[in-house]
Amino acid sequence: MTSNSKTSGGPAPRPADEHGAPLLEVRDLHVEFHTRDGVVKAVNGVNYSVAAGETLAVLGESGSGKSVTAQAVMGILDMPPAKIPQGEILFRGQDMLKMSGEARRKIRGAKIAMIFQDALSSLNPVLSVGYQLGEMFRVHQGMSKKDATAKAIELMDRVKIPAAKNRVHDFPHQFSGGMRQRIMIAMALALEPDLIIADEPTTALDVTVQAQVMDLLAELQREFTMGLILITHDLGVVADVADKIAVMYAGRIVETAPVHELYKNPAHPYTRGLLDSIPRLDQKGQELYAIKGLPPNLLNVPQGCAFNPRCPKAQDICRTELPPLAEVAPGRQSACHFWKETVNG
Ligand SMILES: Nc1ncnc2c1ncn2[C@@H]1O[C@H](COP(=O)(O)OP(=O)(O)OP(=O)(O)O)[C@@H](O)[C@H]1O
Ligand code: SF4
Ligand SMILES: [Mg+2]
Repeated sequence: MTSNSKTSGGPAPRPADEHGAPLLEVRDLHVEFHTRDGVVKAVNGVNYSVAAGETLAVLGESGSGKSVTAQAVMGILDMPPAKIPQGEILFRGQDMLKMSGEARRKIRGAKIAMIFQDALSSLNPVLSVGYQLGEMFRVHQGMSKKDATAKAIELMDRVKIPAAKNRVHDFPHQFSGGMRQRIMIAMALALEPDLIIADEPTTALDVTVQAQVMDLLAELQREFTMGLILITHDLGVVADVADKIAVMYAGRIVETAPVHELYKNPAHPYTRGLLDSIPRLDQKGQELYAIKGLPPNLLNVPQGCAFNPRCPKAQDICRTELPPLAEVAPGRQSACHFWKETVNG
């Protein structure tokens, strides 16, 4: 992976935030959906932060609230049915939940951009990719069509789409899945945002293409000193690219840690279960450990620790008392009554 390798023609890299202040800070965020069946408590007090030049991976099984948290940050939740009864989303210290719709729209795309899993449904099938990339510059910066197309080619080069000049007028379906995802990355980069949120950006791709796209994203993130929030359910994907990890379960963060510490010595039984589920090349033929049972129904989250019905370490206290996020070490937290035993176990 090459980093900090400024290539010609691209925007100049920004210096890292001198104050080390977080770019984005989510504080005690709650999101619920009011449905006919009741209130779905999708996000239940999430805290996380990401600084310029830092990559935070958000990990957890399907339905744990990863995407809903990200959509709340982007301001793209449909409200109703969604409601944010509590919490703050600070971008450079300013609470976006208190901003006007207009102020929020200015941040979206220009300061915070999002990459989704499914490029094909995010791109317009009847417009060329060059037109769609160029639109970012025509609409946001009032550029002429010719200049915008030149910018589109430059961006396509930057995300390493071969023969960009010849392909700028091609349509989305004429590109492979990996190339389409590169186009989505180019789209997100267009306005040089401070922060990119990538929601399962490689899940729909083949394993080898996944690694290439992930490497590209990590390379660009370093080059531009952007903050990156990488949402995934695959611990294997994040090992090389993330600085820190937040593990989510039933709408809460159950463990946060610098990436290597989390891999070496998880402080939460759920994280341990996720780690044991990663296929390892050196253990071919061995049965893969999978966490037993299913994630809870968010209309009716279990009392106490939400993980207790599936946890091999559960005791009586786990069924009655919600474990607080306890500090395991500076920068490391675990929401488990028995984190000490887990860390050493
Ligand atoms: N519009 C909605 N109405 C009701 N419930 C919703 C709505 N959108 C999301 N949810 C619920 O919120 C919970 C969290 O969903 P979310 O999409 O954040 O999960 P996720 O962690 O991103 O999972 P995945 O890995 O499958 O993408 C889920 O139980 C989901 O069913
Ligand atoms: S609090 Fe109890 S049930 Fe929850 S993860 Fe820890 S040991 Fe398991
Ligand atoms: Mg999701």
